[in-house]
Amino acid sequence: MNRRFYITTPIYYVNDVPHIGHMYTTIAADTMARFKRMCGYDVYFLTGTDEHGQKIEQAAAEKGLKPKELADQVVDRYYKLWGKLGIQNDSFIRTTDNRHYAAVQNVFETLKKQGDIYAGEYEGLYCTPCEAFWTESQLGDGQLCPDCGRPTVRMKEPSYFFRMSKYQDMLLEHIEKNPNFIRPESRRNEALAFIKEGLKDLSVSRVNFSWGIPVKDDPEHIVYVWVDALVNYISALGYPSDEDSLFKKYWPANFHLVGKDILRFHTVYWSTILLALGLELPRSVFAHGWWTVEGQKMSKTLGNVVDPFYLTDKFGIEPVRYFLLREVTFGLDGDFSYKALIHRINSDLANDFGNLVTRSLGMVEKYFDGVIPAPDIFNGDDVRIHTLIAETAAQYVRFVDEMSLNRALLAVWDIVGALNKYIDEMQPWSLAKNPTLKGRLSSVLYTVSDGLLSLSNFITPFMPETAVKLRKQLGMDGTASFKDEEELGVTRVLKPGGKLGAVSALFPRLDEKDIMSSIHDSVKVSAGSLKTQPAAEFIEYKDFEKVTVIAGHIEGAVNVPDSEKLLKLSVNDGKGVRTIVAGIAKSYTPEELIGKKIAVVENLKPAKLMGVESRGMALAAFDGQRHHVLFLPDSVPAGTRIK
Ligand code: MSP
Repeated sequence: MNRRFYITTPIYYVNDVPHIGHMYTTIAADTMARFKRMCGYDVYFLTGTDEHGQKIEQAAAEKGLKPKELADQVVDRYYKLWGKLGIQNDSFIRTTDNRHYAAVQNVFETLKKQGDIYAGEYEGLYCTPCEAFWTESQLGDGQLCPDCGRPTVRMKEPSYFFRMSKYQDMLLEHIEKNPNFIRPESRRNEALAFIKEGLKDLSVSRVNFSWGIPVKDDPEHIVYVWVDALVNYISALGYPSDEDSLFKKYWPANFHLVGKDILRFHTVYWSTILLALGLELPRSVFAHGWWTVEGQKMSKTLGNVVDPFYLTDKFGIEPVRYFLLREVTFGLDGDFSYKALIHRINSDLANDFGNLVTRSLGMVEKYFDGVIPAPDIFNGDDVRIHTLIAETAAQYVRFVDEMSLNRALLAVWDIVGALNKYIDEMQPWSLAKNPTLKGRLSSVLYTVSDGLLSLSNFITPFMPETAVKLRKQLGMDGTASFKDEEELGVTRVLKPGGKLGAVSALFPRLDEKDIMSSIHDSVKVSAGSLKTQPAAEFIEYKDFEKVTVIAGHIEGAVNVPDSEKLLKLSVNDGKGVRTIVAGIAKSYTPEELIGKKIAVVENLKPAKLMGVESRGMALAAFDGQRHHVLFLPDSVPAGTRIK
């Protein structure tokens, strides 16, 4: 078996900063790469940026920057984002890299020399946002781009053409013979229909702008940006250089992951170029769907672009990874909403999975002093769990291999459900009451703990840090790794006698109301954008002046009866003592607050909370999980105005 594996994401345009759509493809590719590495493969995972073309040239000009300056700024955001998310790519290609530049010129020259690229004149319509050529018949009324709906421009200019038509039949035959070449099935049909309409030769150079790679012996012509971009998949491997290059080792790619909008470029343009070069085609081009946000298309004009930095700061990296991969079938469109994210985290992660871990390991601590018990004889109930895990492992492998990532997670959560049910039915707490049933108790808690080890293996590619945390709680070091996929289904590998690590909750439950109120619209919208904040969002100083914020001294604090969240504070404001009710009981005990100096809004209209009148408000930052009260130095006298 060939144990090497090459996976790519699209290379992202640098005309704007990364958003949730870019994060999605990269997380999916990272998950697949981690899965293959875990199963012993030699993996190469490539991502990068697409930096040439008229679109980037225009975006840079609008910002008063040179195209390369804009690219450097945006690339830095990508580096930071992938670093923050722990994406384990093996290389990051920029189309402005020298290695790439030379490869593109080489490909162009080779095709020109062999007569597959010829000089001619292009007359037709061009969509700059998509960097795509269209014929009159492909455009409807108003000559709008069929992909993005924006106006196209009429062009008449000298151009080189690639003889794409010549490779039509070869490509059709390849698609017919290789059912997995274009996935999912609906996209395969879409590509087939497009090709069957008849492939025309492709215009592969432009003369009316300069930001790109020039044709070597005719530098007035700039290589068409899609040809430039697609070559990244081989230039990053060192193509066309020497014998022992990465290219020789890893090509053909096992997966090109792409969004549905760029299917044609990958399955038709790229494939025919590879056929012309006499190179193998990728094993699979998988097109995923698009995310909308709260039911609407994501767009800067609507201001609903979800910023990956903000999202992962607020909810954590792994819950976001889980949500994106679990929420929609990979290949179909999906809708992002904060509510759906909170529900998934609370129900799947905190309740089902998190509680399973804490209740199970809590019992190992309680009944066996935190030492994994040696099982007695396994009965039918235990064996059913072992069999379920083994069978699910096989399904899980198949699902991940075919990029059905949400189905893989569903299968894993079947085990979570089965283990929770098994505990409910076996009632270890009842077994523990009867010393003669100690053997039975051991078998049950062993089966559960061993099941948790399997779960930590299964979630490794999806939530790698959580998997390591769980392994540590089970008393094991390192990350999961196997000699092959089959080993994943082996159960009863946990060593009895091992001591558990410290047991703690893997996922805190989120308070939907608190979180939703903390998601400030302008943060949702403007974070991550390269633009400055719109003037409409600024306030005048006189407006700020209306709010009197003062230093207050907490002289007393008690819990408000019947409320989990509220504390009643007695705050000296320099003139007297006032009552302030604050929703911070989940983050602070009364004792922690007494004697502290805090920032208080003095002139807030009094309001009754759970029957207690509150006069003023204590200021605190809420990070999505807990409050952080703004404490002031002791030396600030109560009543001091804060501005
Ligand atoms: N530069 C080209 C790709 C060249 S690959 C040789 C490009 N770049 S892009 O930055 O516009 O888009 C990159 C990817 O992000 C595409 O796969 C696209 O489908 C994906 N997404 C952009 N918006 C998206 C959503 N709203 N949802 C999911 N993916 C989305 O195209």
